[in-house]
Amino acid sequence: MDFQLSEEHKMLRQMVRDFAENELAEKAGERDEEEHFDMEVFHKMAELGLTGIPWPEEYGGAGFDYLSYVIAVEELSRVDSSVGVTLSAHTSLAGWPIYKFGTEEQKQKYLRALAEGRSMGAYCLTEPGSGSDAAGMKTVAKRDGDDYILNGSKIFITNGGLADIYVVFAATNQELKHKGQTAFIVTSDMLGFKVGKKEKKLGIRSSATTEIIFEDCRVPAENVLGKEGEGFKVAMMTLDGGRNGIAAQAVGIADGALTHATAYAKERVQFGKPIAAQQGIAFKLADMATKVEAARLLTYQAAVLEDKKLPYGKASAMAKLFAGDIAMEVTTDAVQVFGGYGYTREYPVERFMRDAKITQIYEGTNEIQRLVISNYLLKD
Ligand code: CAA
Repeated sequence: MDFQLSEEHKMLRQMVRDFAENELAEKAGERDEEEHFDMEVFHKMAELGLTGIPWPEEYGGAGFDYLSYVIAVEELSRVDSSVGVTLSAHTSLAGWPIYKFGTEEQKQKYLRALAEGRSMGAYCLTEPGSGSDAAGMKTVAKRDGDDYILNGSKIFITNGGLADIYVVFAATNQELKHKGQTAFIVTSDMLGFKVGKKEKKLGIRSSATTEIIFEDCRVPAENVLGKEGEGFKVAMMTLDGGRNGIAAQAVGIADGALTHATAYAKERVQFGKPIAAQQGIAFKLADMATKVEAARLLTYQAAVLEDKKLPYGKASAMAKLFAGDIAMEVTTDAVQVFGGYGYTREYPVERFMRDAKITQIYEGTNEIQRLVISNYLLKD
């Protein structure tokens, strides 16, 4: 067991940290206020090779590992977690299923565009009536000659409206429930593809979250991803890795809040000395740092398991569960360290606290993570 990052991982971390601090930090609050994702940020990430970190060079990727990818999501989220989740959904939820289940043609056409950052990706599973019960989807896909016709609507789609490549799940045979669902690659220029309502959110406000509507949307049969009837498996396996991207986001949010709180505690003087020198605050910082480190280790472990091609579904669910919960605790404590100032929008910690909440909810609520973990335990 090696707890040291390699030189390559350290260099990547420094490169993404420099990018986040130099290019993202200044306007993160402004983007949050305006609820606006700046596509220029995505283009800059593409220039740095961040849009295709774990994909092989033959598909336009950087050819790095999953550990590199989670380090990048963590570093972006330390500064602006809206950017962190944009990259996470793009990579884990859109790129991964195409890399894993796509044909060579699909990979050359779609994965390459995603990896090179010419396209942005998104994943359409959740519907108004099916969130945790993902198998209960109502979106249907009917075969019509060489095409499928999709009808239905998906909600809470990260990167909705900005993305042009969507991995979409629909029922090709509703009677068969999860065994009758199929994954498709849908592009935003296909007839009948529509972007619906944009959500106004508590946190990650500059990341786009929209409804996506399919109205007689005509998708060529060659865009079926994997086999017909195996869509639920594609969706679940995608989430196994996606959840570790969210764990990385949560670690980054928590570490960002801890960094701000530590700096502030050293500067803020009360009762004649910095508040960091008062045990009530010093111990709080110690607890926060310990939680961040434990969450980071779980997250890196899940990534390394995937890199070693070992089972990682349970580890990823544990990482997401723990990191999401501690992100909420640590950011709440960071606001507490700042006192009244922390409650204002003059300081970034309130944004971190709002951003942390979603990590306990999306890509499977933390209650669903407990279900997934307990299923593994009971099966073992
Ligand atoms: N890998 C491979 N196969 C899997 C699997 C996995 N991780 N999990 C389940 N399966 C298979 C099972 O083996 C089973 O296969 P068989 O029928 O062949 O035996 C089949 O799928 C059904 O499994 P379950 O009976 O366990 O399925 P279920 O209906 O009880 O659901 C669940 C299980 C874990 C609750 C699942 O529905 C789930 O993960 N729900 C949460 C969904 C979720 O995370 N949604 C978030 C969407 S993404 C998002 O948030 C938006 C965004 O843009 C970020």
